[in-house]
Amino acid sequence: MANIKYQLIGAPGPAINETLNFRVVLKVFLCCFLTLLTIFYYLRYSIETGTYVELAMTTETTATTITTTTITTTNSTPITIKLFNSTQEPTIRNFFVNTSKCRMPAPYPFTPDVARIYKKVPYKPCEPGKDLIKVNYKEGIYSLHMNEAKISCCYKQVLRSGVGANSDTQFKLLPCSNFHQDFVVPRHVEAIITECRRLKDKKLLQQDAFSFVQPAKPIDNQKAVNNSNTSQSTERRPSVLLWGIDSLSRMNFQRTMPLMYKYLREENWYELQGYNKMGDNTLPNLMALLTGLNSTRSISVCQPKKVGGLDACPMLWKEYKHKGYVTAYGEEWSKYSTFNYLCKGFKAPPTDHYARPFILAVEKELKKQYDTALPYCVGRRHFAEYIYDFALQFTEAYKNVSSFGLFWTNTFSHNNFALPSSMDSRILEYMRTLQRSGTLQESIILFFSDHGMRFGKLRELESGFLEERMPLMFIWLPFWFRQKYPAFVNNLEQNRNRLTSPYDIYATLRHILELETPLAELPRPESCPRCHSVFFKVAESRDCSDAGIDEHWCTCVEFEDVPKTDSKTTLMAEQLVEATNKYLADKNLSGICHIQKLNNIESVQKQILPSSKQSNSYLVRYETEPAKALFEATVKWSNTSKQISISVPSISRMTSYREHSECIDDKTAKKFCICVN
Ligand SMILES: *[C@@H]1O[C@H](CO)[C@@H](O)[C@H](O)[C@H]1NC(C)=O
Ligand SMILES: *[C@@H]1O[C@H](CO)[C@@H](O)[C@H](O)[C@H]1NC(C)=O
Ligand SMILES: *[C@@H]1O[C@H](CO)[C@@H](O)[C@H](O)[C@H]1NC(C)=O
Ligand SMILES: *[C@@H]1O[C@H](CO)[C@@H](O)[C@H](O)[C@H]1NC(C)=O
Ligand SMILES: *[C@@H]1O[C@H](CO)[C@@H](O)[C@H](O)[C@H]1NC(C)=O
Ligand SMILES: *[C@@H]1O[C@H](CO)[C@@H](O)[C@H](O)[C@H]1NC(C)=O
Ligand SMILES: *[C@@H]1O[C@H](CO)[C@@H](O)[C@H](O)[C@H]1NC(C)=O
Ligand SMILES: *[C@@H]1O[C@H](CO)[C@@H](O)[C@H](O)[C@H]1NC(C)=O
Repeated sequence: MANIKYQLIGAPGPAINETLNFRVVLKVFLCCFLTLLTIFYYLRYSIETGTYVELAMTTETTATTITTTTITTTNSTPITIKLFNSTQEPTIRNFFVNTSKCRMPAPYPFTPDVARIYKKVPYKPCEPGKDLIKVNYKEGIYSLHMNEAKISCCYKQVLRSGVGANSDTQFKLLPCSNFHQDFVVPRHVEAIITECRRLKDKKLLQQDAFSFVQPAKPIDNQKAVNNSNTSQSTERRPSVLLWGIDSLSRMNFQRTMPLMYKYLREENWYELQGYNKMGDNTLPNLMALLTGLNSTRSISVCQPKKVGGLDACPMLWKEYKHKGYVTAYGEEWSKYSTFNYLCKGFKAPPTDHYARPFILAVEKELKKQYDTALPYCVGRRHFAEYIYDFALQFTEAYKNVSSFGLFWTNTFSHNNFALPSSMDSRILEYMRTLQRSGTLQESIILFFSDHGMRFGKLRELESGFLEERMPLMFIWLPFWFRQKYPAFVNNLEQNRNRLTSPYDIYATLRHILELETPLAELPRPESCPRCHSVFFKVAESRDCSDAGIDEHWCTCVEFEDVPKTDSKTTLMAEQLVEATNKYLADKNLSGICHIQKLNNIESVQKQILPSSKQSNSYLVRYETEPAKALFEATVKWSNTSKQISISVPSISRMTSYREHSECIDDKTAKKFCICVN
């Protein structure tokens, strides 16, 4: 077996060159583009037509001026990039879904209002200089190679060390033990922090950190093939890899990650263009996907604020483990990670391999560089890359075994909507590495998100309503799977333009464990009994309530403006502010949070139903004082009583509230609280 070098991905050495090359290529390319554009202007000649239109379904084609060119990337595969003329919007409207009960608009990702606020961010190495330590991996064995003479290096083993409420927040570092050249990492070591010093004066030259995915025992390949614990032992079982990026809508993905967008489409990944979030933030959406439970049910079943609550939660990885899969879960940004932000996390490691102690140590021990209040670089690498390297190690170590891994990142996408652009070419390299290592031959992969941007400049645009609600969802199927289950593939393809939700993904992941079971006998998500595996056709007549999506989050609707002169606009906005103040008062937070006052009504829109029926639902966008907090709410209006009905927790806060709401812990109330002090 070839000597697989783990630094293939982590190495800033070649990466720097790659980035520089890439930048030079881009500059040359831009010059060419401008020249070409001038020529086109004079010749009034467009060389290709109808590109944006393939994104969504439509009945006409639009002429979009684009140029096509070929650049050569590092592994010398030619790739073609298409550039859109950003001021030229399609002249007709496109839809992601156009069924009898769902018309889901497809906003153009490159409108002028976005062009004004979006600037691509280049990928930059986190620290200068070359790595002093390189990790090699060969036949299940990791070794540490020192890249320079005249240095001495040592490693501190990272251990999970907390108990009870601190299980997920504490780690221990063992004393730094020196190692020799090409030292073999002991099998029980899962993570280390390293230090390299100059021999002559012991000056600290470099710190670094590495995880290792090491099976407790070497894998017995014969046994591994038979390890699936099922009645149908001859059935081949795909591995499952969930690759999640927080707060990335499919429009923002296309906008900020054109290389990945192109790659996924050209490699025939399946997209669910009608994928709609079911709840506000990460926890409800991931819970629906991992447990099939809605927010209220998952809180009562899993009790995330109770120590040990989440341990008892019926997470999908337990089901996979039960069927003989090896499991892993990794997520960066320890403070705000899904099961730890205002939750108690896990008392025992939830999966066979669990990155949290490593991530805690990396965050604590290494130098951090922030972007919009998030640790973007930690030590020598971008924070997300520790998770991606962990994912690669996991898929590599368990190549011959069925595995289930969830790898989630938020540091480069949660607060700054432009920052994913910096990781585009990097993530493409990871995908190509997965391809080379054979992972794509064995695994079903979900490249996905939980929701779009929930606050900030992008959210404040007219398309912000859709940006927030349309997370990315791409699905990869191995070729043997496509051959064995052509009907599933056909259905998945048709579901591209049907309304889907995280509950359907839960059902799909359950389905993967018993692919021969007919639809009627498959387990359904408890909180959405009508949701089902996306390998079966989604009904034409599906609406948001069928898909478990609350009205406020539903994008199947269109709106028309209500003029501000209409007296009900003021009544609605005033009642909304009143309802919010009452909500805070009922939680005894009035003294801690400011009483809010209506400052401005930005817009009021009325829902238009696909049928000709009248709707009494309105979308109200308004600003309050203090702090110029911007909100958006879906209200029902009664023509007779002139009163709104509203569920306050569902109101969206479109401006960042982190710095205003530090005085309280309640996740929902934080959206509305402007702390008095
Ligand atoms: C959407 O569906 C309606 C009804 O089937 C049809 O008339 C309309 O042309 C469709 N629109 C698009 C953009 O496909
Ligand atoms: C885009 O196209 C429009 C109309 O053809 C043209 O006026 C404009 O200059 C172009 N903009 C860019 C950035 O190429
Ligand atoms: C694996 O399963 C196959 C088919 O059930 C059987 O023929 C083979 O002996 C098994 N191998 C081992 C090592 O158990
Ligand atoms: C195998 O499945 C059976 C019944 O489904 C279960 O009782 C047993 O614990 C499983 N074994 C393993 C190793 O998961
Ligand atoms: C997987 O199986 C192949 C063939 O049985 C073997 O050559 C390879 O070393 C195995 N890989 C791992 C990681 O166990
Ligand atoms: C949540 O799901 C449960 C079933 O799991 C259901 O009884 C309940 O009505 C749902 N709650 C909401 C608010 O949808
Ligand atoms: C608010 O305070 C009152 C009186 O002190 C108490 O009865 C009530 O339970 C409190 N409500 C909440 C939600 O804490
Ligand atoms: C409410 O009243 C307005 C005009 O007063 C009317 O246009 C609208 O259809 C009414 N809505 C409903 C649901 O009856």
